[in-house]
Amino acid sequence: MHSVEIAPNIYWVGYVDWNVRDFHGYKTHAGTTYNAYLVIDEKIALIDTVKAGHEEALLRNIRERIDPAAIDYIVSNHTEPDHSSSVVSMLKHAPRAQIVASPRGEKGLRHYYPGDWNCQIVKSGDTISLGKLTLSFIETPMLHWPDSMFTYVPQERLLFSMDAFGQHLASSERLDRHNDLEVVMAEAKTYYANILMHLGSVTSRTLKQADELAIQMIAPSHGVIWTEHIPEIIKAYQQWSSYTPARKALVIYDTMWGSTELMANAMVEAFGQEAIPVKLLRLTNNDLTLLATEMLDAAAVAVGSPTLNNTMLPTVAAFLTYMKGLKPKNTLGMAFGSFGWRGGAVDEAANLMKEAGMEMAVDSVSCAYRPDATTYQRCRERVAELAGHIRDITTE
Ligand code: FEO
Repeated sequence: MHSVEIAPNIYWVGYVDWNVRDFHGYKTHAGTTYNAYLVIDEKIALIDTVKAGHEEALLRNIRERIDPAAIDYIVSNHTEPDHSSSVVSMLKHAPRAQIVASPRGEKGLRHYYPGDWNCQIVKSGDTISLGKLTLSFIETPMLHWPDSMFTYVPQERLLFSMDAFGQHLASSERLDRHNDLEVVMAEAKTYYANILMHLGSVTSRTLKQADELAIQMIAPSHGVIWTEHIPEIIKAYQQWSSYTPARKALVIYDTMWGSTELMANAMVEAFGQEAIPVKLLRLTNNDLTLLATEMLDAAAVAVGSPTLNNTMLPTVAAFLTYMKGLKPKNTLGMAFGSFGWRGGAVDEAANLMKEAGMEMAVDSVSCAYRPDATTYQRCRERVAELAGHIRDITTE
């Protein structure tokens, strides 16, 4: 992928990683991009870099436009290594460049990449003039690391937003209008759910900061650049960060000998009778990335586990542990499952669901060995109760 001019004298010079499928556990089934940008003026700035191992592609793209030795500034908007791990090594090719980072960004970079290099620390409101163009910095702490910041170019109304508004999506086209919007929005939702779900209030605050800027382009660090569909992605972020539940239920479960699955199937059928849209998701068949995305706007979730060795199945524990970190809000919950001679899983699941922030709206259902007519009746009753709560908190 070659460099692409995205605004006058501003170029995408990053790397499209078509083959990456794992991003610290996030299943990147559509690959990703590490977006770096070159701003050429009387002075030259490189905004972010690429994941280590892809420096040659970055350098090739830069050389299409300038000699890397001419770079004056390397701005590190975010210290996570998918963006920062080539920052310091770039100094070999851009020896006169000054690294620019937020106060916590500078600290993070020194931890990760110790050495004798200088850094210009910038805070919100600070600017660097490149000539006609200005780099203006806005700290966005905890969106999603303490070091995170935006870089804004007022003359072009261009916001370099690092991870915010990004998508793990490899594509041959850099701009939103040249991509399938449905695909881009789906990947943006997956990204938000898995990286930012627990940061709703920080995201809302940052959206208000962004609202004060005139923006005609948002250039994130992953995926496509927003030009024509900025209102759509801003509206989606407002909705996601406010934890607005959709009229949708999930039945997420795993099973040993089919009993918990029979209960899960009965509950799906009962949600259908209640006219509540529902999805049945077996943990062994669905990765955590997809499940977190489904959880983002689910009004309710029923989590099912049989008891194995007096506890939950490991797949159920892994899912709930992941959700404990992502802290869903406005999600109603219930637990269910089967056991043999001694239970344990259902209560443990219910406790972990509470710890993850779900409101246990109805009692759990459990059964010994195989669900019987009484068990199915309880499942239907709990679902009917849950459906009433869902109708109370959602609109069709
Ligand atoms: Fe794309 Fe938080 O790194």
